[in-house]
Amino acid sequence: MSNRQAWDDEYKKPKLITQSHKPQKDFLRFIKWVKRNKHLDLYSGITVLDLGCGVGRNSFYMADTYGARVYGWDFSHDAIEKACAIHRHTLIDFEERNISDPFPLPNASVDLILDVTSSNALNDREREMYLRECARVLKHGGYMYVRTLAKEGDKNAQTMIKEFPGGEYDTYHHPQLDVIERVFSGPDFKVLYGEYLDVVRMERKTGYQRWGAQSYKRNYWNCYLKSK
Ligand SMILES: C[S@@+](CC[C@H](N)C(=O)[O-])C[C@H]1O[C@@H](n2cnc3c(N)ncnc32)[C@H](O)[C@@H]1O
Repeated sequence: MSNRQAWDDEYKKPKLITQSHKPQKDFLRFIKWVKRNKHLDLYSGITVLDLGCGVGRNSFYMADTYGARVYGWDFSHDAIEKACAIHRHTLIDFEERNISDPFPLPNASVDLILDVTSSNALNDREREMYLRECARVLKHGGYMYVRTLAKEGDKNAQTMIKEFPGGEYDTYHHPQLDVIERVFSGPDFKVLYGEYLDVVRMERKTGYQRWGAQSYKRNYWNCYLKSK
């Protein structure tokens, strides 16, 4: 099954994704950090790109709270259908789009890029394209937030890499979701993402990945990046 089909199935019968429409908590901490350090004036009519936006909870938060102009992209038809139904807003353009395809946006046109646990399933070639496009569209002085799966301290990841290898480095075929995911060690993330953007801050946090009635302990990197 393709990754896209697997995500469509997940949106039809959710077992993993949250049913909450509240913005993701670690992303909110990033937004507080941006405000506290006056990195961007969030109220100044900024442009936000929400990559793998799902049903649009974080896109909606940015449009509704800060009046941001938001592009919310997801390759799942079902996710975008739900986003348009649940989080419709005049300032948001939701679009069915693969984040590893070229971005239809001009150079240096985005103030803030969000990737809230979305790019783990890109393969190496797709990730390179996505990173190149993020660096191209981000304005000078713009920021990017990436929440991604961490390798360190995550026993589930380490077991899955051994038992269900995904073919590329530090990947596994998620046995329930039917998607190939990559996990990152801190140094690997810095080298890979640091080629395109400045990695300003990385924090590892424990979270829980739900599957039906069960929850699995997972570790996540919260990464704050800036245009070079
Ligand atoms: C864990 S969900 C997170 C959704 C959203 N960011 C949130 O915080 O609610 C991951 C999302 O990434 C999307 N996704 C995964 N790979 C993608 C790709 N190559 N292009 C576009 N969307 C993708 C999935 O369809 C899914 O909606």
